[in-house]
Amino acid sequence: MTNSRLSGLYNLSVAQRRAKVTESAPLPADLLSVYDTGGLSVDAADHMVENSVGMHALPVGIGLNFIVNGRDVLVPMVIEEPSVVAGASFMAKLARAAGGFFAKADEPLMIGQMQVLDAADLHSARLALLEHKASLLDEADAIDPILKKFGGGARDLQVRIIEDSPVGPFLVVHLVYDVRDAMGANAVNTACERLAPRVEAITGGRVHLRILSNLADRRLARVRCTVPVQELAFSDPDGRTYSGEQVRDGIIAAYAFAAADPYRAATHNKGIMNGVDAIVIATGNDWRAIEAGAHAYAARSGRYTSLSTWGTDADGNLVGTLEMPMAVGIIGGATKVHPAAQAALKLMGIQSAAELAEIIVSVGLAQNMAALRALATEGIQRGHMSLHARQVAIAAGATGDMIEGIARRMVEEKVVRIDRAEELMKEAEKQPKQ
Ligand code: MEV
Repeated sequence: MTNSRLSGLYNLSVAQRRAKVTESAPLPADLLSVYDTGGLSVDAADHMVENSVGMHALPVGIGLNFIVNGRDVLVPMVIEEPSVVAGASFMAKLARAAGGFFAKADEPLMIGQMQVLDAADLHSARLALLEHKASLLDEADAIDPILKKFGGGARDLQVRIIEDSPVGPFLVVHLVYDVRDAMGANAVNTACERLAPRVEAITGGRVHLRILSNLADRRLARVRCTVPVQELAFSDPDGRTYSGEQVRDGIIAAYAFAAADPYRAATHNKGIMNGVDAIVIATGNDWRAIEAGAHAYAARSGRYTSLSTWGTDADGNLVGTLEMPMAVGIIGGATKVHPAAQAALKLMGIQSAAELAEIIVSVGLAQNMAALRALATEGIQRGHMSLHARQVAIAAGATGDMIEGIARRMVEEKVVRIDRAEELMKEAEKQPKQ
């Protein structure tokens, strides 16, 4: 059993943190040493993309305090932005008081699209395809025997008529495919390419594009959490105090802004994606696919809006929900070949793609709550300030102990700027060495 409540982790060295994390779960002691190099070698990277010249590293932080569906999880988060790991961990701690996060992923159904051009009569072509649905599904099912062995395969065939487009009306065939624990792009693209000749024969048209849709709205993941209102009360470092009710109502009003205004919704959803992408990247999944699906889903009504909701339960506690497409896999692609992705899955004790999706949306919701709480109270800059100040100090050329000293001065002065860091560097350099 993992314990995700590792208090004081922040104050330890990297080596001590690794030890504490692996001790808190039944994990090999050297599991996190993969993060020395980011898990890849220059040679391995050379086999992954064209014209490879090496690797690009990002920090990995551990998200703490998460209980997802009754299970404690330590969450590896790959992100360059300060405050995200701390914010999500803090909110997970508040949500623990009411059992943490309750999440559920749909069956792993992905949609493959075939664009059928030049069919003479779209309505009769559509019906002809539907008449052949059973045999088309049988054919698609036989394409991937391994997926079928694990319970996946073709599930449904839908045919839409697009009436209005820059090239006039055409047909679109959706092949709904159960991809089990894979992200599914390869299986679905292969199935669409293989079915295309039969679709052409049935419709008399020409199949143009054959490709997966990233609007994976048959593969949603949902999560809800409750934060007891008293848990939300706090005092900021300037001594201002906020009651639980004030913070709760502030979060709900902030959500209302995103629900009603696309300009705000984009930023609100970006905060959700801060949490989501961090795990998607850590597990070697395709974060562009997740981003595309998220934003398309957020605009499904024709107006871009918030992916999450915030309100109160009958007892006045804060309740949050998040629902979004979550096409992630734990087999195939980088997930399989990237040693750091394998370590990330082990750290979380993931057994299925659905379980991974459920953890991802939980972290997305926690991260959203962290951002709204900060925005609705003391503002976002203070939370960002100390880590941001360290980055500014490093950018100004500070090294070793100087980083902390210069960062602290800038935070005290509330002036976190590169020119001020450079001045402080010069001052520090003038000081006689002890
Ligand atoms: C910054 O990376 C994310 C936030 O802008 C999210 C939000 O505004 O809700 C703080």
